[in-house]
Amino acid sequence: MDLGFLFLDQSWSLMQLRSLLCASYAFLLLATTLVVVAVDNSTYYVPRDDILLNCGASGQASSFDRRSWTGDTGTRYAPSLNGSGGFDALRLDPSVSTVPYSTARVFTSPFTYRFPLSAGPIFIRLHFYPSDYSNHAASDAFFSVTSGPYILLHNFSAYLTADALNFAYLIREYSVNVSTGGLNLTFTPSTTHPNSYAFINGIEILSIPDLFSSATPLLVYGDDDNHAYTIDPDQALETVYRLNVGGQAIPPIEDSGLFRSWDDDSPYIYGAAFGVTDSNDPNVTITYPTSVPNYIAPPDVYSTARSMGPNAQVNLNYNLTWILPVDAGFYYLVRLHFCEIQYPIVKKNQRVFDIYLNNQTAKEKADVIGWSGGIGIPVYRDYVVTTMGREQMDLWVALHPYTLSEPEYYDAILNGLEVFKLQNSNNSLAGLNPGARSQLYVDPGDHRKGSAKHKSEVPVIVGGVVGGFAVLLAGFCLIGMCKCQKKKMVKEGKGAVTSNGPYGLSPLSLYGNTRSVASADFNLCRYFSIAE
Ligand SMILES: *[C@@H]1O[C@H](CO)[C@@H](O)[C@H](O)[C@H]1NC(C)=O
Ligand SMILES: *[C@@H]1O[C@H](CO)[C@@H](O)[C@H](O)[C@H]1NC(C)=O
Ligand SMILES: *[C@@H]1O[C@H](CO)[C@@H](O)[C@H](O)[C@H]1NC(C)=O
Ligand SMILES: *[C@@H]1O[C@H](CO)[C@@H](O)[C@H](O)[C@H]1NC(C)=O
Repeated sequence: MDLGFLFLDQSWSLMQLRSLLCASYAFLLLATTLVVVAVDNSTYYVPRDDILLNCGASGQASSFDRRSWTGDTGTRYAPSLNGSGGFDALRLDPSVSTVPYSTARVFTSPFTYRFPLSAGPIFIRLHFYPSDYSNHAASDAFFSVTSGPYILLHNFSAYLTADALNFAYLIREYSVNVSTGGLNLTFTPSTTHPNSYAFINGIEILSIPDLFSSATPLLVYGDDDNHAYTIDPDQALETVYRLNVGGQAIPPIEDSGLFRSWDDDSPYIYGAAFGVTDSNDPNVTITYPTSVPNYIAPPDVYSTARSMGPNAQVNLNYNLTWILPVDAGFYYLVRLHFCEIQYPIVKKNQRVFDIYLNNQTAKEKADVIGWSGGIGIPVYRDYVVTTMGREQMDLWVALHPYTLSEPEYYDAILNGLEVFKLQNSNNSLAGLNPGARSQLYVDPGDHRKGSAKHKSEVPVIVGGVVGGFAVLLAGFCLIGMCKCQKKKMVKEGKGAVTSNGPYGLSPLSLYGNTRSVASADFNLCRYFSIAE
């Protein structure tokens, strides 16, 4: 086609030409982006089994992130249901995604879903939205969930747990090994509580690569007393924390194929010692070595980090510390993700530090470049800590500069942090329901917009310098939030805001933190990546 002809004959103005060029450029750009994304995703792990069951519903429905859920009415995983016990939530919090939370399956006697799966490790994710369902009051639901020999939950009250955390809904993630014959998932109402019933809103079953049994963690006793610990392939684990340290929350669809949620770490930082957050130098690309498959953690985790700060003297006088409330009486696998992403750290003995877990030395003289071999190369290390007792306790993760080797910088770095609870000798992962709420508690993952609950507590705990900072952050967030919600509406084609809930897991956290107000809103904003 002769462009000149087109030009003269149809008298195209310069403006029209410019828009044509613009449009083609935009198209090219879009095409390139799509190609890049496609290439990227194709190298991610592809699960053999990926079941999303929308309980209490029938037919197909998409969640806000466009994953397709199938109603459990008439499903082959629960043929005996015949649609009985499916109810709508009497009121759906506007912050909560319709799929899978607006419907639930309610059980007044034990019920088992049967999943014929091939043998191997899987994630089980249980989604709970504690609400009144028909004539079943939210506060009456006390139940156990077992998976084959494993007790995942016992005398569990989603209502008490969500209330203590100030979460609108809860997601529990378990890693279990399926033996031949598949998986039986059984819901059993508690017999000790009157009118007790069990319920479930959504079940995710995802086959996963071997994330744990090939790990060679050190059991931490302190100093010279650490020794190897073996995670049996048949050991069940529960994910308690999964944090993108120094970065923003990563939603399931932006994970590297395992649909995990990565949360912002700032609500868990101890005191006001936040250190500084870094993201990768534009010239540094995250490059996975064969020892770290990309399903271990997505590039977004390794491309952001938190370090102690530029002042060596300040760094020598504090520990960069995360405080993570956990159920006592269990072993915990603590997985630390590292990657140097900023020049000039390219050599050994430039940034060297000690790692303390629960005040014990887990690793002295940690040197990320020494482990990984170079800038932009991810590495992770596993440690196992033991806890005693029965109630809640705080798990401490702390980093401090190591000085004896006279490194170039007195500093420390962390990119990602995961904490998994290991089953105890009774095959159980179940903890107790949370007790009385701490008065000054503000939840890190509070996304219940429009609920004024607990709001009045905020000024009480925000004080002094930290308070001023929080106000600044909150203001910044408000701006970001407006933008996000506008985008969200466009994306969902709806006028109302939905599904702002935490992607995250809902740890049994009773730990309050002044920064949580701001960080909750940062999470909100993360949802729309540039790629999207
Ligand atoms: C699941 O339960 C059924 C019925 O009780 C039983 O026949 C089957 O062996 C169980 N499967 C597994 C893997 O436990
Ligand atoms: C670690 O040390 C801190 C400060 O001394 C203390 O408050 C905390 O309870 C200790 N944590 C553990 C798990 O021992
Ligand atoms: C850092 O933590 C370790 C282990 O709890 C403790 O021994 C040390 O005193 C702490 N250092 C500082 C500067 O707080
Ligand atoms: C179940 O949990 C509730 C709330 O925490 C508690 O009051 C009750 O004693 C528990 N029941 C059993 C049998 O453990």
